[in-house]
Amino acid sequence: PHPAPLYDPYTIRGLTLRNRIAMSPMCQYSSEDGMATDWHLVHLGSRAAGGVGLVIVEATAVVAEGRISPGDMGIWDDRHVEPLARIARFVASQGAAPGIQLAHAGRKASCDVPWRGGAAILEPAKGGWPVVGPSPIAFDVGSPVPHELTEAEIDGVVDAFEAAARRSLAAGFQMIEIHAAHGYLLHEFLSPLSNKRTDRYGGPLENRMRFLARVAERLRKVIPDSMPLFTRISATDWAEGGWDVDQSVELAKRLKSLGVDLIDCSSGALVPHVKIPLGPGYQVPFARRIREDAKIATGAVGLIIDRGQAEMIVDNGEADLVLLGRELLREPYWALKAATEAGREVPWPVAYGYVFKQRR
Ligand code: FNR
Repeated sequence: PHPAPLYDPYTIRGLTLRNRIAMSPMCQYSSEDGMATDWHLVHLGSRAAGGVGLVIVEATAVVAEGRISPGDMGIWDDRHVEPLARIARFVASQGAAPGIQLAHAGRKASCDVPWRGGAAILEPAKGGWPVVGPSPIAFDVGSPVPHELTEAEIDGVVDAFEAAARRSLAAGFQMIEIHAAHGYLLHEFLSPLSNKRTDRYGGPLENRMRFLARVAERLRKVIPDSMPLFTRISATDWAEGGWDVDQSVELAKRLKSLGVDLIDCSSGALVPHVKIPLGPGYQVPFARRIREDAKIATGAVGLIIDRGQAEMIVDNGEADLVLLGRELLREPYWALKAATEAGREVPWPVAYGYVFKQRR
């Protein structure tokens, strides 16, 4: 058997994951009024049954206007808690840790669902709403110009993140991830391409990091010491004059000092039409660089497909966790199959496992 630590337990704060394989958060655009549904239970529950160590619920909006689309999951109201709690309970019953990603879409909110084209919905009559951001700069041609958040409104969003974290605890989640990637609100404040403010939230790096730092600080205060806090970032905008890896290292150091435990290293989506050198594990170097230079745990994500590739990322110390997205959509049992192929004894779901042991 391969000695890969990929399949060994991993402890972060008071949480021990059964392995280092995580399900990356993936929007299903299948909610109404933010509510989790049976679809979400099956979508997330089947990957828990499939052996991953950590299941992260999709970008979940902390306020209604922070949804990418009317189909986004939400956690801005107490009535969102129970259906999420049902999911968290089932995921935990399958031996995986339930985590949730808390999000605000900023200037990229108010869009149609992607399988209908994903275009911005500008008219309230068609289900759209006014969007907000650091500066009145639209994401793309045809995108709305965001309302520039006032300092008081920023305070309100920080409060909304806190309320969302409290509801996440009530729902039984064991990990929270702050979504500060992919061109959504917190990333928009980080990047000089979308943030042209002249107040204490704009200009120098210190100021651009302030909003996210405040969210991280607030969440660390309201969640138990034993509970890990992750942050997903886009390590680079892949654009001239934008956010980059050096700034990401500085951000990671700051977040670490505020009690963030792991940086989940994605990239891009702040500005459209950029060239991204897509390829297997193309974002892994960001996880490695941030892990080494900021001395914080990292997660690697993006076109991680084969088990050998995932094993190497952990073996080589490039990241502490490996997150899979689309490959887990194709194969919910990826983790159990990978571990079995690597020669590990792994517990299949009870109702399946004995079947495989029987002689035919
Ligand atoms: C995503 N991704 C994503 N990322 C995130 O941080 N929050 C989210 O809610 C979503 N939603 C989402 C939906 C769908 C359908 C896809 C395919 C992707 C990005 C995802 O988590 C992951 O980072 C990328 O898909 C790259 O990893 P893979 O798919 O190459 O393993």
